[in-house]
Amino acid sequence: TALTEDVSFIGSIDQGTTSTRFLIFNKDGEPVASHQIDINQIYPEPGWHEHDPVEIIESINTCIDGALKTFEQQGHSVKAIKAVGIANQRETTVVWDQKTGESLYNAIVWTDTRTQTLVRKLKDRLGADKLLDLCGLPLSTYPSVGKLLWLIDNEPKVAEAYEQGRLAFGTIDSWVVYKLNGGPKKNVFVTDPTNASRTMFMNIHTLQYDPRLLDFFRLNMSKLSLPKIVRSSHPTAFGSLVTGILSGVPIAGCLGDQSAALVGQKGFTPGRAKNTYGTGCFLLYNVGGKPVISTNGLLTTVAYDFDGNPQYALEGSIAVAGSSVKFLQTNFGFIESSAQISALAATVPDNGGCTFVTAFSGLFAPYWIDDARGTIFGITAFTQKGHIARATLEATCFQTKAILDSMQKDSGHALAELAVDGGMTNSDLCMQMQADLIGMPVERPKMVETTALGAAIAAGFAVGLWESFEQLKEVNTAGVTTFTPKITTEEKDKRFGRWQKAVDMCRGWAQ
Ligand code: G3P
Repeated sequence: TALTEDVSFIGSIDQGTTSTRFLIFNKDGEPVASHQIDINQIYPEPGWHEHDPVEIIESINTCIDGALKTFEQQGHSVKAIKAVGIANQRETTVVWDQKTGESLYNAIVWTDTRTQTLVRKLKDRLGADKLLDLCGLPLSTYPSVGKLLWLIDNEPKVAEAYEQGRLAFGTIDSWVVYKLNGGPKKNVFVTDPTNASRTMFMNIHTLQYDPRLLDFFRLNMSKLSLPKIVRSSHPTAFGSLVTGILSGVPIAGCLGDQSAALVGQKGFTPGRAKNTYGTGCFLLYNVGGKPVISTNGLLTTVAYDFDGNPQYALEGSIAVAGSSVKFLQTNFGFIESSAQISALAATVPDNGGCTFVTAFSGLFAPYWIDDARGTIFGITAFTQKGHIARATLEATCFQTKAILDSMQKDSGHALAELAVDGGMTNSDLCMQMQADLIGMPVERPKMVETTALGAAIAAGFAVGLWESFEQLKEVNTAGVTTFTPKITTEEKDKRFGRWQKAVDMCRGWAQ
């Protein structure tokens, strides 16, 4: 086969909570090759959740090799890959020794709740009421800051590196960029505003670290190194890969995965929104060039910053979505693979009176109840696995409904339809439930790898593969499936009322 070096492609690393993927996109935004592997989930104690940072890097290299094999078999040359973009799980915290480049502890994952007591104390500290306005996030176990403070307080190796001024902190993007660039030798130590906006260190208005935030958390900046914040799309700031077949290829785009999905769904204009059902579920609503601070339990985050004109989003974060399906599989053995959840749910016509509040990590938006834990209500001798399966899927759909209500209050606008993506959206049954419970159409694109596409777009802009949003107009528009609501408003409200009651009853369990 003829080599097609004249045609350009972009590689995309999607380092998520459950898996790592590498996809290669053509100029039409179509994936031509991909490889995916699962990441080991480490749960050392109830509520703790860790990843091995070295395994994360290895998984990326394995995925790159796997996808490139297919790519070359298709007759393409690796030289046609002009740049690589990164989309990553956000908030997850890595600490490493700046001198050696070695990580000092496992990565503490965003879902981890070990900081619950610490967070309660921080909430009582003078100035806590100012944090939301400064950084867009409320205090909870979710952002990176608590995880870093816990590491300094509890892990002697981390405390020592901090005292000796050798401690580097990064979210997964920074760790990956640093390592793919070869570590301490080149010391490419950067992050982008979408990731930095999840730490509680960055001022959401200026996109710079704010000394008031760092002081509040009593972090001594002469002892701690934070990555430099650079634009999400940049030809040189993220360096380039130094090993493997892609050695020399620039890393030109970097976005937190939920921002990447908004970009991949082409949510470039205010009023556009997307809901991604991955390990968790995250609804991002583009609010334009000025941050909107929520008064209804949403987060303010950076959607993307491609050219120094950052765009902002309101975000509703749900901690547990696809992970609840995995839970039914691995912990209860209800199904053998996630794909079977629809079939199990379809064995019964409804939830049989069960409501499952899947608060495995407390409840996130819009409730923010750190001490809630997973609870199933309404079990009787009648309850079958199918009912629990339905209640599990409904939990994400109900939280999405609650988030949309908050979104409407904060923005003053109601969405006309909801664009969705992510693994759980493969379930038609779940998407129909979603449309029913929010009373608006749900639109699923044919290609649901929008997170990876978003990172590819960020990188593609930096190296000139695309120059305007206009050029992306036709990307992923064919084959959209629309789910329209089929239940009455009265029925919808009744079901949601039960859910709200269940949420109220979950409070305080993990005090
Ligand atoms: O904030 C956490 C989020 O970035 C994780 O995304 O796709 O791994 O559920 P995902």
